[in-house]
Amino acid sequence: MSIAFEVRAGDAARMATPLLAVLLPAEPAWPRALAALDSRYGGALSRALARKDFQGGKDETLLLFAPGAGPERVLLVGMGTAERVAGVTRAAALAGRRATAMGVGAMHVWAADLTGAALEGAVVGASLGSWEFKELQAQPPVGKRRKALARVTCVVPSAAGAKAALAAGIAVAEGQRIARRLAMLPGNICTPEYLARAARDIGRRHRLGVKAYGRREMTRMKMGSFLAVAQGTTQDPKLIVLEYRGGRRGEAPVALVGKGLCFDTGGVSIKPAPGMELMKFDMSGAAGVLGAMEAIARLKLKVNVVGLVGATTNVVDGDAVRPGDVVRASNGKTIEIQNTDAEGRLVLADVLVHAKRFKPQAVVDAATLTGAVVIALGNVTTGVMGNDQSVVDEVLAAAGRGGERAWQLPLFEEYKDLLKSDCADLRNIGGRSAGTITAGLFLAEFAEGMPWVHLDVAGTAYSETDLGIIPKGPTGTPVRTFVEFVRGRAR
Ligand code: BES
Ligand code: MN
Ligand code: ZN
Repeated sequence: MSIAFEVRAGDAARMATPLLAVLLPAEPAWPRALAALDSRYGGALSRALARKDFQGGKDETLLLFAPGAGPERVLLVGMGTAERVAGVTRAAALAGRRATAMGVGAMHVWAADLTGAALEGAVVGASLGSWEFKELQAQPPVGKRRKALARVTCVVPSAAGAKAALAAGIAVAEGQRIARRLAMLPGNICTPEYLARAARDIGRRHRLGVKAYGRREMTRMKMGSFLAVAQGTTQDPKLIVLEYRGGRRGEAPVALVGKGLCFDTGGVSIKPAPGMELMKFDMSGAAGVLGAMEAIARLKLKVNVVGLVGATTNVVDGDAVRPGDVVRASNGKTIEIQNTDAEGRLVLADVLVHAKRFKPQAVVDAATLTGAVVIALGNVTTGVMGNDQSVVDEVLAAAGRGGERAWQLPLFEEYKDLLKSDCADLRNIGGRSAGTITAGLFLAEFAEGMPWVHLDVAGTAYSETDLGIIPKGPTGTPVRTFVEFVRGRAR
């Protein structure tokens, strides 16, 4: 269920709510604007600060109950010394998570001067923190069910001035929820056909053009690289294309490209059993594209955007692609497939070539492409590579605005030797060293002639551990990076 977000101006002390989250920076003084609230609580709130029971540290919380009218409970949430927007987003997420765990059903959020990007962050944060995935589990009987967080009210200085930021926050939040749900769904439910249907749903809601090409059409388009990955599965692979036309007619679009491996067993170069179930998340790049398209359409950004998703599953079969097989991609280049587990780049190769048909002003792809990026940057930072430094810088800035950490790795040409093959134009692996970079360089061969940036989100799109503000599972990355990049290009 999605949350109703709204704004209200006025004194928080007089607002009837089961929970008021008050987001405070490190070493806070009790805010003057909440003096009435403090007196309603008999001075307990300011006393908690004065006595240092609560010091506003990152992720610090303190819950107090009040007698009488107004907010029934106050949850103080620390933002620490984080930059303001990031601090508000994280603290709102923590509040959303606590509110969901308590089952209060609704909450108000207060932070000093909650306007613009900070208000947007509060909405995105509350949504991030309260997200749950329960659709595949039996629910307790209605009477015993804990209430989901249905309404979040942000307390703002002026309701009229808050409209745009509220709408933007809701747009991004909804995009992230779509991305996280799709990522969480297992491979037997979220198939390539399912992703195509999800794209059509988004298309229908916002009047986007949506096409989904299958094996037949891809054969006609000579996508031998993509099809090699798909040849082990009876499920029809899908090349999904969504077209959002918010810009001028004829204006070059931004292209967003996503790796959509609904499941990755590794194929004949099979993966070890422990943890293989996590490879249902191997379509997180695709989920990010679909979520971003939803957000972009809701934001009504004045820019043309084409979303492209390469969806299939990488499985084992008598007719599956074998190590050593040589295939020809749709740009004519031949590839020796030395490892069938390096399948994402094979799928993206043909999708990137297809993107070129749209003569895009820029292409950004996102893929859970390499385990090596998790070794290099852990679960905190997305790996960024590209063939155009100014667009790389633009993407890094977009990620920064969106609160998604990202860092560039080089595509120096010295690494190219690692992709040499004895019998084809290139091979699909580069050996043990620089695994994220060689994967990026492989993609670069198919992004020629377009300004292109690649996001390796293998470490950031989902988490194997609880992150405090959100549980383990899909994080919503890279929806915000995509949206901020496109926003930056909008008129
Ligand atoms: N989907 C995986 C990458 C991955 C690994 C994502 C761990 C998330 C967590 C990708 O298809 C893959 O298997 N890559 C191989 C490439 C190797 C064979 C060159 C890898 O990283 O091991
Ligand atoms: Mn793989
Ligand atoms: Zn994969």
